[in-house]
Amino acid sequence: MHLSPALAERYTQERMTAPEAQRLAQFIAWSPMVFQVSRLMVKFGILDLLRDTNEGLTRAELVEKTGLSDYAVKVLLEGSLSIGTVLINPETDRYSLSKAGWFLLNDASTRVNMAFNHDVNYEGLFHLEEALKEGTPAGLKHFGSWPTLYEGLSRLPEQVQSSWFGFDHFYSDASFPAALEVVFGYHPHTLLDVGGNTGKWAMQCVSYDQQVEVTIVDLPQQLEMMRQQTQGKPGADRISGYGMNLLDSSKDFPTDRHYDIIWMSQFLDCFSMPEIVSILKRASKIMDSESRLCIMETLWDRQKYETSALCLTMTSVYFTDIANGNSKMYNTEDMESCILSAGLHIEEIHDNLGHGHSIIVCRK
Ligand SMILES: C[S@@+](CC[C@H](N)C(=O)[O-])C[C@H]1O[C@@H](n2cnc3c(N)ncnc32)[C@H](O)[C@@H]1O
Repeated sequence: MHLSPALAERYTQERMTAPEAQRLAQFIAWSPMVFQVSRLMVKFGILDLLRDTNEGLTRAELVEKTGLSDYAVKVLLEGSLSIGTVLINPETDRYSLSKAGWFLLNDASTRVNMAFNHDVNYEGLFHLEEALKEGTPAGLKHFGSWPTLYEGLSRLPEQVQSSWFGFDHFYSDASFPAALEVVFGYHPHTLLDVGGNTGKWAMQCVSYDQQVEVTIVDLPQQLEMMRQQTQGKPGADRISGYGMNLLDSSKDFPTDRHYDIIWMSQFLDCFSMPEIVSILKRASKIMDSESRLCIMETLWDRQKYETSALCLTMTSVYFTDIANGNSKMYNTEDMESCILSAGLHIEEIHDNLGHGHSIIVCRK
């Protein structure tokens, strides 16, 4: 198995002392409490208050400033001491923010992941066992009875949608500037954006290049959202939509014109490997020797930092339990095998875009 150097260092040998390992085991056992206490320390503004003082705050001061009961603040603070997000000075009984508390509060990726996990995943995760055994998104049912989350995305409660889009866009948005350089290095006139969602990438393409024409393929209900969000913006007249459900293997990609680039960003991770092969075979049908298929994915084995790989392997659990029951964040080996099975080959791979994306450039 391919592993980046950071991952090889961490995943191939035992590094913990026995007490450290025991503590981690307990941290896992108590992780629902760890998660909710930490989330509420942010939500109630306690970590903010601690960050904004030099000498720290007593519990009584926190009670006064938050309006919470002494009991509530005590439970949260004592839990947070054990979690490691706050520190206490035993001489003055003043609490301050630890380094982990600082990251919890200020690291944008942590905030996005926490909101995503609370709003989208938390309740449904109770059904992970069923999801793994049945291969269905068993945790999705409390939101609705759609076969996959994508069919219901436009109808999810507002807060759930906001955290879902916050998560999705946080990762892809950060890679778009570098991705534009890669894609427009091939001088495309036409681009097919498969799974183009709300049109964020398409909008960036039409403003980066004054000639390019973009067709977004997505589920019809997503195209509706895309049209609302792009309407009247400069270049939106060069964006069109093509509604189709790619899970229907009898449906082909549009053949109205030649597409110089077929773009799939954070898209193939929504499908199982056999489904990916079917999608790529259909993409291959509309490609010629000049076309390129650019797949932008966060491949967990290529991550520069192990923390990024952690975020990705855990994101796989969301796909299992909530999104569709059969997809995941893939590694290079899995993605390469799908590409080859579809009769395509890899021309080159661009790594380390944004928060850890790679672009796999494929040719027929
Ligand atoms: C994770 S989002 C990626 C959005 C965007 N490309 C990005 O990079 O942020 C996946 C997109 O694929 C679309 N999608 C999922 N299943 C689909 C299907 N069966 N047919 C067509 N589009 C689908 C979703 O509606 C969504 O817009």
